[in-house]
Amino acid sequence: MKGDPKDLGFSTRAIHAGQPPDPRTGAVAVPIYQTSTYVQDDLGHNKGYEYARVTNPTRDALEENVAALEGGIAGHAFASGMAAIQAMTTLLRQGDHAIVSRNVYGGTYRLFRQVLERYGLAFSWVDTTDAENVRTALTERTKLVFVETPTNPLVEVSDIAAIAEIAHGAGALLAVDNTFMSPYFQRPLSLGADLVVHSTTKFLNGHSDSVGGVLISTREEDAEWFRFIIQSAGAILSPFDSFLVMRGIKTLAVRMERHEVNAAELAAFLDGHPKVESVLHPGLASHPGHELQKRQASGFGALITFDLGSEAAAKRLLDRLQVLSLAESLGGVETLISHPATMTHASVPADVRAELGITDGMVRVSVGIEDVDDLLADLAQALEYV
Ligand SMILES: Cc1ncc(COP(=O)(O)O)c(C=O)c1O
Repeated sequence: MKGDPKDLGFSTRAIHAGQPPDPRTGAVAVPIYQTSTYVQDDLGHNKGYEYARVTNPTRDALEENVAALEGGIAGHAFASGMAAIQAMTTLLRQGDHAIVSRNVYGGTYRLFRQVLERYGLAFSWVDTTDAENVRTALTERTKLVFVETPTNPLVEVSDIAAIAEIAHGAGALLAVDNTFMSPYFQRPLSLGADLVVHSTTKFLNGHSDSVGGVLISTREEDAEWFRFIIQSAGAILSPFDSFLVMRGIKTLAVRMERHEVNAAELAAFLDGHPKVESVLHPGLASHPGHELQKRQASGFGALITFDLGSEAAAKRLLDRLQVLSLAESLGGVETLISHPATMTHASVPADVRAELGITDGMVRVSVGIEDVDDLLADLAQALEYV
């Protein structure tokens, strides 16, 4: 591909940005540079690579690719989504304060509460579905607002543009965890966010065979700092995982379209089912975030949470499913189902879960791209036993 990727459509960028044909062989797929070091031409002269913790051509290609998809100036790839989030928090110094969506991924909650608070950082847990709550939580020391939208498993939607304005008014940065939407459906940087993080483990890789994370910046000073963090702390994504994520991203657009169609059908089916007490999916007109989601994203995503009333009922359903697989994680081609209270959100104390509205009867589906009739039939037969 020649020319500026910014002028090209999403799928073209997904397939080509950061991935020119290999200069040595013309290979269309970026090779896996499985090397720890690089021979130098002579003292003080190299080909741009010295040591693979710092830079690796396969990782570089992925980083350039995700930056082009999110519209940032640089991307950095880490060994997991949590490592990317942890790297992002190194922008904070002792005594700084951050405002966080109250129902972020349980692992993010654990990192902030149980690790980072020990280093003198303070966090306020806020219902960011009302942007004004962010304003109320601001303090003199607020340096960062961290929003996940939609959240997991309650699928709560927060107004990125409104929160960006409030954060910037207070001199704070806005970071958005865009894992659930992927840049195909939502581009937080275009709505005013300063940083985007992803667990590439989910939709970006899309095939449930790699764990990774990326952090995309808009300010040169942040990009420079993250380069330094990568060099200093070294939680890098391996060349092989970088290759896998790049390969996954090439089909992101077609996968997301199919996730979306399948999820809409499942949400409609569950919404009308007598055994189901409630269904959370932003594509349902009844969802409180429906209009906002339509405004700030171009899709509703693949996550559906529904409540069967009790853990026993949830267990009866999970025991009977045959096509949907009981597993943590999401965003892969296969449909996964989980029980947040005992799985993804087990690290959130029961009283906090209750306060957030995560009940023991809830199950969360990450709708895959299988034939939707098979998914519907599987859910229908299992619901008979609930
Ligand atoms: C929204 C979100 N952010 C971050 C993470 C953490 O990513 P990883 O598991 O790749 O460390 C997850 C994992 O489930 C997630 O769902």
